[in-house]
Amino acid sequence: MATWVLHYLLVAFLVTITYSIDAASAGITRHYTFHIQLKNITRLCKTKTIVAVNGKFPGPKVTAREGDNLQIKVINHVSNNISIHWHGIRQLRSGWADGPSYVTQCPIQTGQSYVYNFTVIGQRGTLWWHAHIQWMRATVYGPLIILPKLHQPYPFPKPYKQVPIIFGEWFSADPQAVLQQALQTGAGPNASDAHTFNGLPGPLYNCSTKDTYKLVVKPGKTYLLRLINAALDDELFFTIANHTLTVVEADASYVKPFQTNIVLLGPGQTTNVLLKTKPIHPNATFYMLARPYFTGQGTIDNTTVAGILKYHHKPMSNHFNSSKSLPVIKPSLPPINSTSYAANFTKMFRSLANSRFPANVPKTVDKNFFFTVGLGTNPCPKNQTCQGPTNTTKFAASINNVSFILPNKTSLLQSYFSGMSKKVFTANFPTTPVFPFNYTGMPPNNTMVSRGTKVVVLKYNTTVELVLQGTSILGIEAHPIHLHGYNFYVVGQGFGNFDPTRDPKQYNLVDPVERNTINVPSGGWVAIRFLADNPGVWFMHCHIEIHLSWGLTMAWVVLDGDLPNQKLPPPPSDFPKC
Ligand code: C2O
Repeated sequence: MATWVLHYLLVAFLVTITYSIDAASAGITRHYTFHIQLKNITRLCKTKTIVAVNGKFPGPKVTAREGDNLQIKVINHVSNNISIHWHGIRQLRSGWADGPSYVTQCPIQTGQSYVYNFTVIGQRGTLWWHAHIQWMRATVYGPLIILPKLHQPYPFPKPYKQVPIIFGEWFSADPQAVLQQALQTGAGPNASDAHTFNGLPGPLYNCSTKDTYKLVVKPGKTYLLRLINAALDDELFFTIANHTLTVVEADASYVKPFQTNIVLLGPGQTTNVLLKTKPIHPNATFYMLARPYFTGQGTIDNTTVAGILKYHHKPMSNHFNSSKSLPVIKPSLPPINSTSYAANFTKMFRSLANSRFPANVPKTVDKNFFFTVGLGTNPCPKNQTCQGPTNTTKFAASINNVSFILPNKTSLLQSYFSGMSKKVFTANFPTTPVFPFNYTGMPPNNTMVSRGTKVVVLKYNTTVELVLQGTSILGIEAHPIHLHGYNFYVVGQGFGNFDPTRDPKQYNLVDPVERNTINVPSGGWVAIRFLADNPGVWFMHCHIEIHLSWGLTMAWVVLDGDLPNQKLPPPPSDFPKC
């Protein structure tokens, strides 16, 4: 063959390779349209109207591959204002698409629309989306699945099928009215009426057997269950009778696989588990159950959602063994207040930390923060009797005793970006408690919170260590703290008060789990680290919705870096008007 032919072929070959690598890493653009509409729905014998997306409850599944660009047009046809948050998406330099109302945007008003435009970078796994204004997320939520790039395998056996199971909390009343009543009276909110799997409460509730989630499987296969806790207020234990689960991923980060019979998810958390089915048809069906883990003092919905795991019969088999006649095997769950189970389970999570998926834990820390998280009180307005902890107080919640007040005429990000922040927020969020006390001991007599719109400002590329310390004010309770715009590494956790000399010696800086939502243990603390490499305004809050409503939240402002690719671009042209 002539040299030039060889040369030509070589060039053609190289061009093809480069092109396909580029195409694979650049990804494609995927378009979705979300119509926010009312929907009539019947659960537990009651028909009601809910806000839903595209007439579906739970809402539509959004699927992308790592590297893809998503453009999701949200059109608001209801009278409530709304915004959608893509929970766990890092939103690298796309903070305008993050979604929390009055934090990164004003909500989309009736008749208006907004295209959430973002690219999925360096993430793959199970996340979810939900409304991010008041309690609208009670019915406005759905799965967000990020598949690995084409031809990239999972770091575990390829599953035969993948199934999202999204846990929810069903209110027979209007969730917005439940919230309004709680804020008005100062009391804890009325409990929900049921928990759900993919919107279905299941046979343990009145009038609900026909609304049962069924997972039909074949023997001898591996299923990937994508578990998502979308419940408003409840942490949930989950189990399947007579089946062991292998945890392989949390919050869209791979973990070292481990086996368990019972999984715990706080609101906001996601967990991928492998379910290996029995090698032959077991001649039984199996309940899968979820019900709360709770140590607080209020009353919550302690009911149990059940779904059914069923084995598929070959079409050839006779109907002698029809599933109606099969026994139902029931699993058991830990006691509702089983903090020891919760702690042991949480300790099992370690990141994969291999060469393909390294754990980039910050080894040195530029800025240390110590935040208390917990409940507190606000005074009852004059001439009103309240139903808080006393009749002169309302329930509140805070971080470092600051109960966060959201702006209501603009968003934090817009006010920051336009240089108008002074009118909207101040940069003096306390980095440590102003009045230190024995956080998990006898609570102080004065439980009043202060109120404000305060943020922490971080320079670009700051390495941050944050210790989140639970308090015993009005009872110890777990708090699933969620950080927008980042994943963080969970380097340490423990019970009681954090000890700054003893505890850091025990930190795991080798393979700590990487997450976007972590439980501050009930009566304990957790230490996290992250690199502030994403400019913007990032909300951090307890994902128990009533705690968020009571003010258990704050925001980080991460400044632009010097280079062009370290700056937040301006907002898109269809950005919602305030
Ligand atoms: Cu899943 Cu700020 O929320």
